[in-house]
Amino acid sequence: MGAPSRAGDRWITPSRNHTGTVHETRKNVRNKTLSVSYTSTAPTAAAAPGGPLAYPASMDAPPEAATELRHSPEPRPLVAVLGRRGVLSADTPILRADDLGVLRGDGVFETMDVRAGAPWLLDEHLTRMVSSAESSDLDLPPRKALADLAAQTCAAWDPAVEGALRLVCTRGPERGGPVTCYATVGPIPPTTLRARREGIRVATATLGFAADVRSRSPWLLGGVKSLSYAVNMASQRWAVGQGLDDVLWLSSDGYALEAPTSTLVWLSGTELWTVPTTTGILPGTTARYLLDHAADFGWQAGTKLVRPEELTSADGVWLTSSVRGLAPVRALDGRELTWSEHTRAVRELLGYPI
Ligand SMILES: Cc1ncc(COP(=O)(O)O)c(C=O)c1O
Repeated sequence: MGAPSRAGDRWITPSRNHTGTVHETRKNVRNKTLSVSYTSTAPTAAAAPGGPLAYPASMDAPPEAATELRHSPEPRPLVAVLGRRGVLSADTPILRADDLGVLRGDGVFETMDVRAGAPWLLDEHLTRMVSSAESSDLDLPPRKALADLAAQTCAAWDPAVEGALRLVCTRGPERGGPVTCYATVGPIPPTTLRARREGIRVATATLGFAADVRSRSPWLLGGVKSLSYAVNMASQRWAVGQGLDDVLWLSSDGYALEAPTSTLVWLSGTELWTVPTTTGILPGTTARYLLDHAADFGWQAGTKLVRPEELTSADGVWLTSSVRGLAPVRALDGRELTWSEHTRAVRELLGYPI
């Protein structure tokens, strides 16, 4: 019997019998109990920080063992506010009740992976934040001030521990006033680590508009990392309610767009693809880095529209994002996908520990 996972996790009690069948009990968002069974020949590691390890035998390459030391013991999340002194515990109140970030989800943000005490791809994230702010008519503080805020926050974080850094800039008080800018840093959530190791099961879900609509409708904020993530989070809750891990959004004309917090990348032979940003998806920094390094694997890289049914014959399908890194898509709408033999090498290229 595997050890129960931590409170808050949705995977409750994995167990495996002598035939290798894993039985898991999960709770969905409405607290309804779901039972999941699959075959596994892997050892069950009950001590992994993200909860017990388990994976299906259908994977070609078994997930690697967790490196526990990088993620435990969990350090406390921190916050630093632009224009105020010091780095504080993240439970310190720092926002006014009438801040438009809270009232309207009006603002922009970035999330970065913190390695060896520094945010990975900081420049790329700052560039995207500047672009998001321009598209939202938001007065962002100077880039250098944001970089300093990120550095100040990371300096208070244990460099031996991987972390997630958020840079947030809201439109500020409702009756006018300066933008509110702050940074938080905290540990990588266990579910995120599990997705890296074991991959994810994904369902498609419509976003309700055609793939070309956002490129001619600036008010839809295509390509903007705005604070309005309620739809993104609702999409993910819906997936979890189905006993799955994530959603792949589709356009109304049937093309794959992106996931609520990650970019779609797939491999066909030696061609590495992602979705064009003309669809209004967020230009992912992780996917960009991967495509820019495709030649390291002898691959060509490009962007094109894809329908979900085409992904079922791909040689590898991943969702990429700054904190989760590389999440192999094991199944799409219930159909098993190929676990690419290159998954480990690609994750290593991106520099994510497991
Ligand atoms: C909607 C959306 N798409 C894609 C991504 C992936 O972007 P990145 O790789 O820069 O984290 C994210 C995460 O930031 C996201 O929220």
